[in-house]
This record gives sequence, C-alpha cells and structure tokens, in this order.
Amino acid sequence: MNLRQSLLQHEKPTHQFHDRDSLMWLISHRPKRLPKSLILPKKLVETIQKNKPWDCLEDRWFTNDLIRDGMHGFRHVSRVSVLATYLALSRFSLSQKELSAIMFSCLFHDCRRKNDNADPRHGERAALWLKRNRDVLPKELQSFLPAICFSISVHNDPYDQLLKTDSYRKFGLFVDVLKTADALDRYRFPKADWWISEKFIVLLPHDKEMAFAFDLAYQSEYSFVGTGNSKQAMLRSWNNLSSKK
Ligand SMILES: [Fe+2]
Ligand SMILES: [Fe+2]
Repeated sequence: MNLRQSLLQHEKPTHQFHDRDSLMWLISHRPKRLPKSLILPKKLVETIQKNKPWDCLEDRWFTNDLIRDGMHGFRHVSRVSVLATYLALSRFSLSQKELSAIMFSCLFHDCRRKNDNADPRHGERAALWLKRNRDVLPKELQSFLPAICFSISVHNDPYDQLLKTDSYRKFGLFVDVLKTADALDRYRFPKADWWISEKFIVLLPHDKEMAFAFDLAYQSEYSFVGTGNSKQAMLRSWNNLSSKK
C-alpha cells in the first residue's frame, strides 16, 4: 500500500514515508491557481544560503531514526525553517538574531514526536526537551529560549486557546510564523483535504509563498525517495528553486 492509499484508511500508519506513486499523485494535483514559475526574493536567497537550516540540524535531536526520516522529520522541519524565513522576511523587520531564533524554533518543533499521527503532546515534549538540552541552541540565541519554547509548546494548539494568553501577547510573532510555515508544508501530504486552511492560522500566506511551499515539499521528497539522504534532498531542491532568475 502506498502512502496516499494508507492515508485514506481509517487507521493511519504509525510512521509515514513518501513513495513514487504518491508523489505522482501530488504533482498531478498541484493547485492550478498557484503561480508556476517563481523567482524567490533576493533577501530570502541570501539568508538561507548563509544559514542553511539543514546544516544546523543534528540527528540526535530526533526521538529515533524513523521519526527523523519520516513525514515530520528532517526534511519537514528544514522546509518549515525556510518557509518561516520567507514569511518573516516579507512581513517584519527583524534582526539576524531574531531570524535565526525563528529558524531554530522551526527546527525543533517536531523533533520529539513518537509517531507521524496526531501525537497531541509532541509540542510540549519538544519544548521540555529543549529546556533540558539548551546547549543545542547557539550561545548568541539563548536569550530567545522563552520565545522558542513557547512557540514550540503551542504550535499544534488551536488559536482560540492562545490568543488571550500573556505569553501569546509576548511571543505571538514566533507562534504565528511557525504555525503558518508548518501549515504551508502540509502540501507534502498526498491528500488535498489535509493541505493548508485559513481556518487554522492568523498569518495568511500569499500565492507565491504557497507555490514555493508546494514545490519545495514535492522536490525534496522526490529527491529523498531516490537517494535516502535528507540533507542532500534539501540542498538539491533548494538549489533548484533558488537558482531561478
Ligand atoms: Fe507538530
Ligand atoms: Fe510540523
């Protein structure tokens, strides 16, 4: 059974991986309204070339190899980091340190998952793990630990539980960017009714950001299916998409 078929079942697999047939389904269902050819903003290209998120990631952060290689693992958190940088750069005026802190919050957000299903407490577990292993965060970003931990801990909570909290008032930018970037990468699933929905986010993406999210997910998953190498898959897909002028 391929990934798409297994996701249509009532009982979903504990660990989920892409395959050629599901990727064929995905590319043939690319939303028609999304722009086809994209030129990424120069600022985004420069920022990602400088801080390649996939080079900052360590295998030991993940619960195990199945989580690292699966649908919420290495490639997902790398893509969420790139997408968050895209969203943040085009909407806010942030320092390099703030951008790096957002990038790291994305890299950590799903690292302590136990499975590729709902796993409702995985955000809180990741935040707790980071507090206990704070040395994995670069020294110059330690002051962002409260913002990073809060955004990770609530990234899968609905907004109606969040909006009135003091922590959201303080760290809302981190939360909004992570939640929308995470939602954008739902294009990796070969199941259109799981894709990003405006009902669950407050920071709404533009069509260009959505098109880039789709293409990055498709191309990096395609490359991983061929090579089994997540870092190479990210580098190849990023190089391909960022070289268009
Ligand atoms: Fe998550
Ligand atoms: Fe995620």
